Amino acid sequence: MTSENSKLTRLLAGNWKMNGLRAALAEIRALGRGLAEVQGAEVVICPPATLAAEAVKAAEGTRIAIGGQDCHTHRSGAFTGDISAPMLRDIGASYVILGHSERRQYHAETDALVAAKVSAACEAGLKVILCVGESEAVRAEGGAETLVAAQLDAGIPEDCRPEDLSVAYEPIWAIGSGRTPTAAQIAGMHSALRVALGSRFGGDVSAKIRILYGGSVNPGNAEAILAVPGVDGALVGGASLKAADFLAIIRAAGVRR
Ligand code: PGA
Repeated sequence: MTSENSKLTRLLAGNWKMNGLRAALAEIRALGRGLAEVQGAEVVICPPATLAAEAVKAAEGTRIAIGGQDCHTHRSGAFTGDISAPMLRDIGASYVILGHSERRQYHAETDALVAAKVSAACEAGLKVILCVGESEAVRAEGGAETLVAAQLDAGIPEDCRPEDLSVAYEPIWAIGSGRTPTAAQIAGMHSALRVALGSRFGGDVSAKIRILYGGSVNPGNAEAILAVPGVDGALVGGASLKAADFLAIIRAAGVRR
C-alpha cells in the first residue's frame, strides 16, 4: 500500500483532540482487530494525554502506534500542565503531532516554538507529524503555497533527522468544516512542500518524508484525496474517533485508480 507518486508506505494518523473517555479505548481494540485484514499502511492514534498510556496497552499486539498531540520543549521541570517528549516515550508512545493549527491558535504557538518542540521530540526518539497550513484569508489572497512552505521551513530545527519527520498539510479552513480543497490545490501545495523539503535535506533524503493531507477527511472523500499525486497519507480528526470510519479511510489508502 504505497503512494503512487512516492512509493512510500502511507501513514494514516488519527488525531482525537480533546475527545475520548476511557470507553473510547474499545475503538482502539476494534481498529486493531480490523487492521489484521488490511496490508501495508502505517497507523497511528493520538488520543488525549489522559488515555495515552492505556491506549498503548490497548494497541499491544496490533499494528497501531500511539502518539501524543503536543509536547513541551523541556525534558522536565516546573511547567504545570505540560507533558514532555521523554514522558511520551516512557509510556510507549512513538509519535507526536506538533504545530497543529489549534495549538498555534489557542496556545499562541509560533514557528520558533514549534521548531523547539520538534527538536525536543526528535531528541527523545519520537517521530514527529509537523502540521502546517494556511487560513482562508491567505488562500483567498493567493500565495498560500509560498507562505506554507516558509512555515514548514521555519518549523524544522537544524537538528531534525529527516527520517523522524512527516509533514501534514492542513488548511485551517478545512479542519472540522466539512470543506476540502480541490485536488489541484492539494497537489499544488504538496508539490511546494516537497520542494521546500528538498532544499532543506536534498532530493533523495526528502523524497522519503511523507506529506499527509488533513482537514475533513472522511470515508466518503478519502479515496479521492489519497489518489491525489503527492499525498502520502492522511491526518484525520473527527472521522478517526470511530474505528469503522477510520478503518474505511485506511482501506481507501490502498485503493489504486
Ligand atoms: P478533521 O481534523 O479531520 O476533524 O477536520 C483534522 C485535524 O485537525 O487534524
